[in-house]
Amino acid sequence: MMSTYNIKFPKKVFSGAGSLEEIKTIVDEQQVSRVCLLTDEGVYSCGLADGPVSYIEEKGVKPLVIHDVPREPSAYAIRKYYDQLREAKTELIIAVGGGSVIDMAKILSVCLTNDGLVDDLRKPGAIRNASVPVAAVPTTAGTGAEATANAIFLYPEEDLKVGIVSEFMIPDYVILDATVTYGLPPALTASTGVDALCHAFESYISILSNPFCKMLALEAIRLICGNIEKAYADGSNQDAREAMQLGSFYAGLCLTTSSTVAVHALSYPLGGKYHIPHGVSNAILLPHVMEANMECCRQAYTEVAPFMLSNADDIPREQWPEAVVEYLYALMKRLNIPNSLEEFGVHREDLDYLTDNAAKVERLLLKNPKKLTKEDIKGIYKRLL
Ligand SMILES: NC(=O)c1ccc[n+]([C@@H]2O[C@H](COP(=O)([O-])OP(=O)(O)OC[C@H]3O[C@@H](n4cnc5c(N)ncnc54)[C@H](O)[C@@H]3O)[C@@H](O)[C@H]2O)c1
Ligand SMILES: [Fe+2]
Repeated sequence: MMSTYNIKFPKKVFSGAGSLEEIKTIVDEQQVSRVCLLTDEGVYSCGLADGPVSYIEEKGVKPLVIHDVPREPSAYAIRKYYDQLREAKTELIIAVGGGSVIDMAKILSVCLTNDGLVDDLRKPGAIRNASVPVAAVPTTAGTGAEATANAIFLYPEEDLKVGIVSEFMIPDYVILDATVTYGLPPALTASTGVDALCHAFESYISILSNPFCKMLALEAIRLICGNIEKAYADGSNQDAREAMQLGSFYAGLCLTTSSTVAVHALSYPLGGKYHIPHGVSNAILLPHVMEANMECCRQAYTEVAPFMLSNADDIPREQWPEAVVEYLYALMKRLNIPNSLEEFGVHREDLDYLTDNAAKVERLLLKNPKKLTKEDIKGIYKRLL
C-alpha cells in the first residue's frame, strides 16, 4: 500500500531565454512600490543584476539593491539585511543568484512577516505567517532553492549548518532564464550541477519517494547526466545550460515531496566546520554513499540506469546497479571533483568528530534506504582521507 504524500509548487514559473523580462509582469501583478533586489558580489560584478534593476525601474519603482550577500551565509548575516528591508518597508524581494542569495531572500521574506523571528529561527513553529512575495532567479544550476521550502544557514559557534524549513518559504515566482548561467565558471558548473544530481538521485531512493517524485527525478537525472559535461566544457552551450537549469528545478521540486538522504547528511559537518562549499562536499561524497547504499537499492539503481547511462543498452541489466556507481566515480573524475578531504584540512583525527556530527543529522539519515551505523559513516569518511 502506498503511503500518502503531497507536492508543493511555486505559484508561477516563467521559463525560457528572455523570461528575465517577466520581472516587469511580476512588479505589475504585485502592484508594489517597495522592491528589494538581493544578490551577491560575484553575480553583481558579472552584471547579472543590471537587467533586473532596469526592468524594475521601467515600472517606475526604484529598488533597494543589496549586492553583498555572503557565500553560504551564516545566520548572523540575516539581522543586517532584515533591518534594511524592514526600514524600507519591503513588499517584494527579487533574488538574483545561487542558493546563498535565494536562501537569504526566503528567510528575510518570512522574518518580515513574523516579528522577532530573526533571533528565533530554529524554534519549532516560529514561522506562522505567510511571507512577503519572493521572485527567485537562479544563476547556478544548482540547489533548486527556487523550488524548495528550505533555507540553509551556518551557525559558526556550533560549526553547524542548519536547514530551516517552512512552506511559506517556497518562492512565489521563479524565472528560469538560462542566459544568466552562461558565465558560471566550469568548477562551479560542475559542483553545483552535481548538487542538483544529488537532489534528484537521493530523492528517488529516499524512503519518502513517491510516483510524482520519481517521475521528476528520472527526468532531472536524464537532463543533468546528459548535459553536465557539455556545460562544464563549454559554458556557452545554450542547450546544455537550459537542460541543466530545468533539471536542477525539477530536482528541487523532488525535495518538496521527498527528501535528500545520506549524501547531504554526511555533507553537513563538512560545510559546518571545514567550510567546504555545499556542492563540492556533496560531489565528493556522492559515489561513496551510493556504493554504501547499493545492497538496499539494486531495484532503484536499475530503474535509474537508463536515464543516467548513455550506454545502458550495451550493459547486461543485472549489472546496471554496479554500472551506475562506476559512472558516478568516473563522472566526478571527469569533472575534476576532488577525491580527498585532505586538501580541505580534514585529517584522520577528525574522523570521530565528523562521524558523530553526521550521525546527528537524523532528519535526513532516517530517510536513507539503508540504516547506516556509525561504523558505516566512519568508513565512508575514511575512504576520503
Ligand atoms: N534551499 C535549498 O533548498 C538549498 C539546497 C541546497 C543547497 N542550499 C544552500 O545554497 C548555498 C549554495 O548555493 P550555490 O551552490 O547555488 O552557490 P552560491 O549561491 O553560494 O554561489 C557560489 C558562487 O558562485 C557565484 N555565482 C553564482 N552564479 C553565478 C553566475 N551565473 N556567474 C558567475 N558567478 C556566479 C556567486 O557569486 C558565488 O561566489 C549553500 O548555502 C547551500 O547550503 C540550499
Ligand atoms: Fe544540496
